[in-house]
Amino acid sequence: MTGLYDRLQVLESGRTLGPEERLEAARKPLLAWYREHARNLPWRENPDPYRVWISEIMLQQTRVEAVKPYFERFMRELPTVRDLAQAEDDRLMKLWEGLGYYSRARNLKKAAIVACEQYGGCLPADYSQLLKLPGIGSYTAGAIASIAYGIAEPAVDGNVLRVLSRVLESREDVSRQAVKKEMENLVRRVMPEKRPGDYNQALIEIGALVCVPNGAPRCGECPLESLCLAAGKGLTGEIPVKAPKKERKKEERTVFIIETEDMAAIRKRPAKGLLASLYELPSLEGAADGQSALEAFEIPEKLVESEEMLPEAKHIFSHVEWHMRGIRLRLSGLPQWEEAEGKPFFVKKEELKERYPLPNAFAAYRRFL
Ligand code: ADE
Repeated sequence: MTGLYDRLQVLESGRTLGPEERLEAARKPLLAWYREHARNLPWRENPDPYRVWISEIMLQQTRVEAVKPYFERFMRELPTVRDLAQAEDDRLMKLWEGLGYYSRARNLKKAAIVACEQYGGCLPADYSQLLKLPGIGSYTAGAIASIAYGIAEPAVDGNVLRVLSRVLESREDVSRQAVKKEMENLVRRVMPEKRPGDYNQALIEIGALVCVPNGAPRCGECPLESLCLAAGKGLTGEIPVKAPKKERKKEERTVFIIETEDMAAIRKRPAKGLLASLYELPSLEGAADGQSALEAFEIPEKLVESEEMLPEAKHIFSHVEWHMRGIRLRLSGLPQWEEAEGKPFFVKKEELKERYPLPNAFAAYRRFL
């Protein structure tokens, strides 16, 4: 913990420190706090570059608790960069099923291939070379460089931006790239050469556990409280400043479970766009009915044993919302479908669970299979 003398010094000079001095004063209490409060997380046990990379990509847009089992399974199934580079797409997507933002997984494989071709199956121990790999932006490059290689580069994500803008009472819009760049440059100037990975993770951890994203920050537990301008002035409700997001487009769809006793129809999504190349339950735009599905999917009426409405469901993507109705069509046998790209086909229900990545957008209907 910080000594009393340090604290008094900070308190006395706290109002007049410039941003760099303020963050320099934050260094020691931050690292001391991290030593005591860092969570035991699977990727922290053995922070080799591959594990740090995979965990950081999973942790973008996904909560720590949700990531843990995915991370452990991924490491079991694809333990090295080479295994990832050689993984079949469907298998990789199956490992990612439920995590969302599937382009993250596609970029992982692309970057793994580059790492095998150019760096002998390792991730480069160099910030600017890391930055050139697909899917690796400044945050991830900084996290890998600092946590796995001990290179003093910043790793500034949304959590860190929230902490820093509060400590420094910055009212700049944290969703702007230029603001993130500025913070990165500032952190680069003040971060320690020793234990840079702990320093970055300490900021991340404070953002996750203390200076929390939703709800009031727990300033009483924060090692930076006495240095934090927003806390001192009661401004944590106003900072960080974030421009409102554009409203999401709403799309209505009707999702069909077309099944027999042990088979269900799925189809592969197009190679480009939302949920690219993943599988889905057949669906039609708008509020469709069973009859329109028979026409659209060429199902002879005589095969239909029953038709049942399923509950409505909603799935929120970053830019789109799907508002879904569901209809279950139980068939007495399989229709004669031709195989063609984008057309539905039947698979065994067991096989669907084991082999075909069906994204969470369909979770509300997947459970009826
Ligand atoms: N969120 C993003 N990166 C993280 C990390 N390394 N540890 C915990 N939470 C995180």
